[in-house]
Amino acid sequence: MQCQLELIDITKSYKGKLALDHFSYRFEPGIYGLLGPNGAGKSTLMNIITQNLKSDEGRILLNGVDAQKLKQDYIAHIGYMPQQQSLYENLTLLRFMYYIAALKGMKKKEAREQIEGLLRDVGLWEERSRYMGGFSGGMKQRALVAQALLGDPDIIILDEPTAGLDPIQRRGIRGMIGELAQDRIVIISTHVMADIEAIAKETLMLRKGKLLNKLSPEAERLEGESLEDMYIRLFG
Ligand SMILES: Nc1ncnc2c1ncn2[C@@H]1O[C@H](COP(=O)(O)OP(=O)(O)OP(=O)(O)O)[C@@H](O)[C@H]1O
Ligand SMILES: [Mg+2]
Repeated sequence: MQCQLELIDITKSYKGKLALDHFSYRFEPGIYGLLGPNGAGKSTLMNIITQNLKSDEGRILLNGVDAQKLKQDYIAHIGYMPQQQSLYENLTLLRFMYYIAALKGMKKKEAREQIEGLLRDVGLWEERSRYMGGFSGGMKQRALVAQALLGDPDIIILDEPTAGLDPIQRRGIRGMIGELAQDRIVIISTHVMADIEAIAKETLMLRKGKLLNKLSPEAERLEGESLEDMYIRLFG
């Protein structure tokens, strides 16, 4: 079945300050870019989709069924790379990957089969026995991308996956994301237009917790305006 994720009227405040304001959108398989200035609500939205954060109002439906009702079955569909680099500094990369696989309920054999491929894809297989505490920012970032793909989730949420990467690593990660099968929903937040320009089927612009605009690459071409020009027109 084609996967469909519907957000309905998602609203979230922190201490009375609105971070998401009745955000609604229906995601279907494909790659989505999420753009917006610092504080626009991108990470908040992603944390609500992954259920790390509870919204004040609104509902999430996965294939028409309320996520609240699905509980663990909902979480099992999601791979998430958080914006904040996580704190498993005292684990080797390999242990970290097995740990995440266990959290996702994967069998050891299945985990073993996937981990090598994923770590090779992000160029970290040779580093698998090193403690993550000794990794550079870019290496941690790539490890976090790899763990998000464990278990072959059909919804993948990547919060600034290329932040802090050098241009070569960035292109590598971008290529990986672009190759994720088109039958999944992939949502990527970024401040780097090039990350999504070539691969996103739709770009959502968020400002002050509201969906300001959405555009497809075709619309962009028709209007003859680059994503960056549009961003600056909307937010500058
Ligand atoms: N834990 C928190 N406590 C209080 N306020 C928060 C918290 N997390 C986010 N906010 C506020 O909610 C708003 C949205 O923040 P969010 O982190 O979702 O933005 P963002 O679009 O991801 O920004 P960035 O591009 O900097 O990552 C901001 O005003 C932020 O200050
Ligand atoms: Mg953020």
